[in-house]
Amino acid sequence: MDHMYRSHNCGELRASHIGQGVTLSGWVQKGRDLGGMTFVDLRDRYGITQLVFNLDANEELTMAARKLGREFVVQIKGQVEERSSKNSNRATGDIEINVTELKVLNASMTPPFTIEDETDGGDDIRMKYRYMDIRRNPVRDNMIFRSKLALETRKFLDSQDFVEVETPCLIKSTPEGARDFVVPSRLNPGQFYALPQSPQTFKQLLMIAGMDKYFQIVKCFRDEDLRADRQPEFTQIDCEMSFVTIEDILNTFEGLTKHLFKHTLDRDLGDFPRMSYDEAMERYGSDKPDLRFDMEFVELNDIAKGHDFPIFDAAELVVGICAKGIADDYSNKDMKKLTEWMQRPQIGAKGLIYVKLMADGIIKSTVGKYYTDDQLRIWADKMGAEPGDVMFIVSGEAEKVRKQLNELRLEMGSRLGLMKDGDFKPLWVIDFPLLEWDEDSERFHAMHHPFTSPKQEDMNRMLTGDHETMKALRADAYDLVINGSEIGGGSIRIHDRELQSRNFDLLGFTKEEAEEQFGFLMGAFEYGAPPHGGIAFGFDRLCAVMNGQSSIRDFIAFPKNNQGRDMMIDAPSPVDGDQLNDLNLVFDFKED
Ligand code: AMO
Repeated sequence: MDHMYRSHNCGELRASHIGQGVTLSGWVQKGRDLGGMTFVDLRDRYGITQLVFNLDANEELTMAARKLGREFVVQIKGQVEERSSKNSNRATGDIEINVTELKVLNASMTPPFTIEDETDGGDDIRMKYRYMDIRRNPVRDNMIFRSKLALETRKFLDSQDFVEVETPCLIKSTPEGARDFVVPSRLNPGQFYALPQSPQTFKQLLMIAGMDKYFQIVKCFRDEDLRADRQPEFTQIDCEMSFVTIEDILNTFEGLTKHLFKHTLDRDLGDFPRMSYDEAMERYGSDKPDLRFDMEFVELNDIAKGHDFPIFDAAELVVGICAKGIADDYSNKDMKKLTEWMQRPQIGAKGLIYVKLMADGIIKSTVGKYYTDDQLRIWADKMGAEPGDVMFIVSGEAEKVRKQLNELRLEMGSRLGLMKDGDFKPLWVIDFPLLEWDEDSERFHAMHHPFTSPKQEDMNRMLTGDHETMKALRADAYDLVINGSEIGGGSIRIHDRELQSRNFDLLGFTKEEAEEQFGFLMGAFEYGAPPHGGIAFGFDRLCAVMNGQSSIRDFIAFPKNNQGRDMMIDAPSPVDGDQLNDLNLVFDFKED
């Protein structure tokens, strides 16, 4: 056999190749013996090709083929032949290779899970042997999708004159609301770098540097609790532009999003609706509403209060949703379970009131003692509920109740199959509050981050206003939401030293702390900082949402588990004493 590993890949051969001699290399997917014939499926990134060995024609070769185990790496030479029973599910299904030479390039132990689309391996074992997991079609296809998405991002942003600039990974902490990962400095004993939670301050400095349009596909690091859509290291498409208004930014990045959907999924997205934060909260109880289905909130204060039902009478807000067509299917037991689900500490509803409009016109409800059927029909009118539907109602403190009902809305949307795969509903949520008052710590937090500008009309109020005024300030901040997932967020930035300093002051920084942490940025504001703004997309999240998945893990080649561990390389891990000594992290008592 010569040195060339392959003339074709395993996904390439068609009927038009019949009669050709070929060389293929790949992994053994599986083998099967049928009388005198042995069939082996050979796999690589591009597909699977069937190999055939004939016992009568070549006994030695066929016996060697029978010894091949799953995931052996082999090279073969042979003749492309027409298959007698064609497999229309496979691109190479018209042909097979009549093998004349077989070479085992490397043997393999039996893999710990099946290398099939539907594997029998659990999460932990798949992560421990991720290199084998990536051999599976769905994971590999995700990696290829991700690569294509990055390429299309670069193409689009390049066409708009953006310049990709790399910013450092060893920096000083940038507050984005999470904890920093820190790295000890050997050359500066007792001092630490932080890994960037995002390149926020650097991209602002690049605007001051006159770069005008910056982007970077960049790793960010946040030491926060993990969820399906969060990893401690994740990737952003990070962007910033100078001399722009909100309108310019939304248009540019709506353009990017449309380009990405068009050039990866061949989908045309219409223009994105825009919704203020307040409106999103009122209609959906969430700043990232899933618009694939309606089930909008309906406020019932005016008709539900004043009927001696103490719970409603005492409530700031009585609000409900209508779930279509489930009244006759949901038993009392089902309702009880749903109520308990709402009362779990994660959601924390006090209770759940329901009114069932049975298909035959009868009304069954938990509040029949307080309301007549006619009164409940008025509720139904207001909520657009018809026979067969259930009205779910919660009440209490407005902000809490909206969050609780949002959970129920999403749960019912999922139970009723309303979040359809392949349906994409993007929107911009705009006009976020600038500051959020935290009762526990009794201080303001930045709703987006401390560099976000108040809206033009709120600037003076911010410099001079009292505490209550601060709560009402609106920011020039926006989020891109797709199918209920926050895909991106950004803002117009403060570019004025006085305003930035006032913001730090409101956020509880002393003058010294602000100067120590952000003096470099505020100083730069004094050397000709242009008005600027930007956005960052969660790249892993975008990949997942575009593929109808809620977990970002399978779009990251080597992700961490819920404990923040890499199961394959077994990190984090202890380091030896010498290393700690070098980093001045242990005190050497002997030398003292
Ligand atoms: P923000 O903190 O909103 O903004 O982050 C932008 C986007 O990044 C994604 N994201 C994450 N994805 C995976 N795992 C995580 N742990 C994680 N955290 C965030 C989300 C989010 O919308 N510097 C600002 C952007 C700006 O103002 O321009 C920033 O980082 O999809």
